Amino acid sequence: MTALGVGLPYFQDLPPDLYRGGAVDFVEVTPEVLCRERRGGALDLLPDKLASAKEACGALPIVVHGVELSIGSAHGWNAAYLDLLDRFQACWPFRWHSEHLGFQTIPGADAHSLNTGVPLPLPATIEAAELVAERSAAIARRYGVPFLLENAAHYLLELPSDPEIGDDVGLMNAILDRGGCLQLLDLHNVWCNALNHGHDPFAAIDRMRLDRVAEIHIAGGSWHDGFWMDAHDSRVPEPVWELLEYTLPLSAASCSKCWKNISLVSAPTQSSTSSPARVPSGSAADPLGAIAHVPDRHADRAWPDGACRRARRFG
Ligand SMILES: [Fe+2]
Repeated sequence: MTALGVGLPYFQDLPPDLYRGGAVDFVEVTPEVLCRERRGGALDLLPDKLASAKEACGALPIVVHGVELSIGSAHGWNAAYLDLLDRFQACWPFRWHSEHLGFQTIPGADAHSLNTGVPLPLPATIEAAELVAERSAAIARRYGVPFLLENAAHYLLELPSDPEIGDDVGLMNAILDRGGCLQLLDLHNVWCNALNHGHDPFAAIDRMRLDRVAEIHIAGGSWHDGFWMDAHDSRVPEPVWELLEYTLPLSAASCSKCWKNISLVSAPTQSSTSSPARVPSGSAADPLGAIAHVPDRHADRAWPDGACRRARRFG
C-alpha cells in the first residue's frame, strides 16, 4: 500500500491551480460526479467533465471514492456503478478504490432497484459481514488495486445485531478479519456516531483494526433536527482534529505506511455557523490552511461524558 500524503477531493468548482501548487499529494475522485444517468440506471461518463478533471489534477496520483455501489444490499450491488468504474479505470487508472459500508438500494418492482435516498447502516451480523467481505474481495480482484471500506455515519438507533459482532465497529472488524479489504477510517463519522448515539469516540478508535487502515478522512458537518450530520458543509470541528491527533500515533505504530494518507473531504467553499465546536484557523476558502491546522486543546468541547474524560486524560 502506497503512502501518498495529504489528499483533497476533486471539486469541479475549485480553481484548478489548487491541485497544481504542490500542496496536495493526491486527489480523490468520485466518478459519479463526472457522469449522467441514463434511463434504466446506466451511468455514462461525460467527456467534457472527465477532461476538465484530468486537466485540473494534472499528474497527481488519484484514488477513487465511490458513493453508489451499495455494497451491502441483500439483492445485489449496483452493477451500473461497477460498469462505470470499469470504463473510468480504463481511461484514468487509480491507486485504490473506496466505498461506504452500508446500503442504499432495496428491491423494487419489475426487477429494478429502488434507491433509499440516503445511505443506510447494515445490521451488525455475521451474515452481513460475510456478504460484504465476499463482495469486497471480488472488487479487489476485479480492479487489481486495494479496496477500502469506509465506516459510515448513521442515525438509526437499536440496529439488529449478533452478539459476536455487537455494533458497527464490530461489523467493520469482522469484515476486515476476513481479509478482502482495508479500511478508510473517517474520523468525522466516528465523531458523528459518538455525538448522536452517546458513546466515547476514543473507545471506538481503541477497538478498531488500525493495522488495516489505509486512509483517513477528516471532514465537517452541522446540526439538523437534533442530529450532527455528516454533511460536509463546515470546517473540520476541533474534536475531529483531536481524534486525528489521537489516532495517528496508534495507527503509525500498527502500520508503517498506511496512516500517511489523509484526505480533507469537506467542501471547502462552504461553511456553517451552526457548529458547536471551535472553528480551526484555516479559512473556508483555504482548505489547505485547515489541513495544516493543529488545534490547541480546550476543556469546553462538546464531547459526550465518556469522551470528555478520555480527552482530558489524553490532553
Ligand atoms: Fe468520508
